[in-house]
Amino acid sequence: MAEASLYEQILDYANRADPYPLYAELRKDPVARQADGSYVVSGYREILALLHDPRVSSDVRNIPEIAAEREAQPSLPSSFIRLDPPDHDRIRRMMMRHFGPPHCPGRIDGMTSGIMEIVTNLIDGFAGKTRVDIVEDFAYPLPVTVICELLGVPREDEPRFHRWSQAVIETIDPTTGTVAERERRSTEVRAELGAYMKELVDAHRRRPGDDLISAIVTDPAIDLALGDLLSAASTLLVAGHETTVNLITNGMLTLLRHPRVLDRLRHEPDLVVGTVEELLRYEPPVQLLSLRRSALADIEIAGTTIPKGSVISLALAAGSRDPARFPDPDRFDPDRRDNQHLGFGSGIHYCFGAALARLETQLALGELARRLVGPRLVADPPPYRPNPGLRGPRHLYVEFDDVLPA
Ligand code: HEM
Repeated sequence: MAEASLYEQILDYANRADPYPLYAELRKDPVARQADGSYVVSGYREILALLHDPRVSSDVRNIPEIAAEREAQPSLPSSFIRLDPPDHDRIRRMMMRHFGPPHCPGRIDGMTSGIMEIVTNLIDGFAGKTRVDIVEDFAYPLPVTVICELLGVPREDEPRFHRWSQAVIETIDPTTGTVAERERRSTEVRAELGAYMKELVDAHRRRPGDDLISAIVTDPAIDLALGDLLSAASTLLVAGHETTVNLITNGMLTLLRHPRVLDRLRHEPDLVVGTVEELLRYEPPVQLLSLRRSALADIEIAGTTIPKGSVISLALAAGSRDPARFPDPDRFDPDRRDNQHLGFGSGIHYCFGAALARLETQLALGELARRLVGPRLVADPPPYRPNPGLRGPRHLYVEFDDVLPA
């Protein structure tokens, strides 16, 4: 049997707890052709160049196996994360109208006290215990509650959309079946999630609330096809709970491995801003954009030509630890200046929810550091979820001596 390539080793669950030495090996050939003809890009400069290159498409209909599946079984239109300009830019702009600058610059800041209240209640729930699972008891319920409130999704529907959300995540996991199989499954799940969103959109049209979906459907300046709105709202719901959970959990794990930083956070609350940026570089939740882009032309990069039509994977986590860009990249340093990590991507698809994710994680880690007395890890490394691209612990058991009042 052929020896596993470096990229295959990275995808292998056995290396989930610490893929970083493999990323370092991978970077020696920053634009590496794989046996299946796709390219894996792992150098910071090369990833950044491709994220800003209009010859690199995010439209998965340019990938023949996916185009064939879509033709066989039409479903909801692609969400804007999977579209190119001009459709991408138009839909993103409309979705952003009630979420951030320039129309709603205060929206995220205005959520601070509500998020803090959720954080406080969750940590209050630790009282009387000496051990919790940071994932189940904190890092998962926090972003889910926040995204539900933001979108106007009833919190009690969580078991339904949790199942769809997990299924969507599986369909972008390169270790689960072939591209065509994943696309088939994705079509089914997107249809179910879209039908749920349709009920919600109808309800918000009839009785608008104080949420993002109501704001969008009642704004006469917004001209968005129903299918595009359903796809975009589904993406926000999934993105809103499958990524921030990992940033908060990776954050607590990293702080417990760096007790001096944890201690500084208790006395220097402002340090949490640099800490969260450094986490996005050092332990990013989105490690790989796997088989997500394709070349619309021959692209010359780092002495290699990526031929037109090739599928491209971007190893963001490898780029953010590239020593050619970041001095001493394997050191966790919350004081790092000039920290333009790739944790939220870059270019036109730069994370739509970055400001919200930053705020939630800053409040979460700041309060965990301040209120937990004597926290320690029960197992290091913790057990990981299977997905190599959206990477994070399945559980993070932490013991502590006491919980300080809010
Ligand atoms: C720590 C948490 C998060 C991380 C690490 C993260 C990371 C990313 C990354 C790397 C991308 C770029 C994808 C690409 O280039 O193909 C992205 C895009 C996106 N993210 Fe996030 N994300 C997070 C939280 C969120 C939240 C909370 C939301 C929703 C409120 C969200 C919504 C989106 C959307 C809609 C896009 C697509 C943007 C576009 O195509 O223009 N993300 N995110």
